[in-house]
Amino acid sequence: MDIIWELFIILHANFIICISAQPNVPKIHEGWWAYKEVVQGSFVPVPSFWGLVNSAWNLCSVGKRQSPVNIETSHMIFDPFLTPIRLNTGGRKVGGTMYNTGRHVSLRMDKEHLVNISGGPMTYSHRLEEIRLHFGSEDGQGSEHLLNGQAFSGEVQLIHYNHELYTNYTEAAKSPNGLVIVSIFMKIAETSNAFLNRMLNRDTITRITYKNDAYLLTGLNIEEIYPETSSFITYDGSMTIPPCFETATWILMNKPVYITRMQMHSLRLLSQNQPSQIFLSMSDNVRPVQPLNNRCIRTNINFSMQGKDCPNNRAQKLQYRVNEWLLK
Ligand SMILES: *[C@@H]1O[C@H](CO)[C@@H](O)[C@H](O)[C@H]1NC(C)=O
Ligand SMILES: *[C@@H]1O[C@H](CO)[C@@H](O)[C@H](O)[C@H]1NC(C)=O
Ligand SMILES: *[C@@H]1O[C@H](CO)[C@@H](O)[C@H](O)[C@H]1NC(C)=O
Repeated sequence: MDIIWELFIILHANFIICISAQPNVPKIHEGWWAYKEVVQGSFVPVPSFWGLVNSAWNLCSVGKRQSPVNIETSHMIFDPFLTPIRLNTGGRKVGGTMYNTGRHVSLRMDKEHLVNISGGPMTYSHRLEEIRLHFGSEDGQGSEHLLNGQAFSGEVQLIHYNHELYTNYTEAAKSPNGLVIVSIFMKIAETSNAFLNRMLNRDTITRITYKNDAYLLTGLNIEEIYPETSSFITYDGSMTIPPCFETATWILMNKPVYITRMQMHSLRLLSQNQPSQIFLSMSDNVRPVQPLNNRCIRTNINFSMQGKDCPNNRAQKLQYRVNEWLLK
């Protein structure tokens, strides 16, 4: 047995017995995880323990296609059959509620005006459910995905669910082809992305300083959050929070968006806690990268590596050959 796990059992046996003896406290259970060890004297499972403390989360430990990952650009495969991503807002602006969840800045979209995406690696249309921000306590850390081993100062994740097959996000998150998450890296610059400026200007962000604070935003144009590029990188992975279901197709946009130094500072001043508790910065809300395990990373960026195969995907391999042959 793993030494750390053994220690953990000895230290926390009482607590484990206590929760398993009370199966009808799922809320406490669902929220019983953290990114980093913080509070002295109380144990909250950090990423390496997520899969061990709750059998419903065991994919976090044993899963073979987990997220985030480090993208080695030299291992990407150009897939000429990836179509551009289509964003469908119906030409309308949308509203949503911005929350401090204690772990992320989370913008949950209103159900009134729906935004869908399709194309790219997607077989179905997917509906925007939530926009989530991850960010670091220092510049150059804070993104979940890495690019050639390098982190960015933050990562915006636009979480969509397959509304053609499933009735809601919860249902989709545990089902095949359930989620599509568009990921956009954040960098610090003099100017700010217009959409992020709506969320992160001082007047707005200071309204969600503490856990469970919420603030309504209206008149948002989702198009504005996308950087000016049609190139992307895609791979099959998982949710980056428990229960780590392996139902997510990731789409990483090939350009970052920018926020100002002041806006990054405001993010770092958000607390994981309620006002009555000590201030703990929400920053570094990042799951470490997971092994790629021979998964294929595809891109629509043509850098002439066409024809290289996906090592663990025979069906696709065959299809590449057929398609190449058809192209000639
Ligand atoms: C990819 O780039 C190569 C070299 O520039 C070119 O010959 C090829 O036609 C391109 N393929 C596609 C699908 O655009
Ligand atoms: C998204 O898809 C649903 C169901 O197909 C459709 O009713 C809705 O109009 C779409 N939204 C937009 C903005 O096109
Ligand atoms: C999601 O849909 C399922 C199946 O239709 C339903 O049982 C469940 O209550 C819904 N959950 C939410 C949060 O709406």
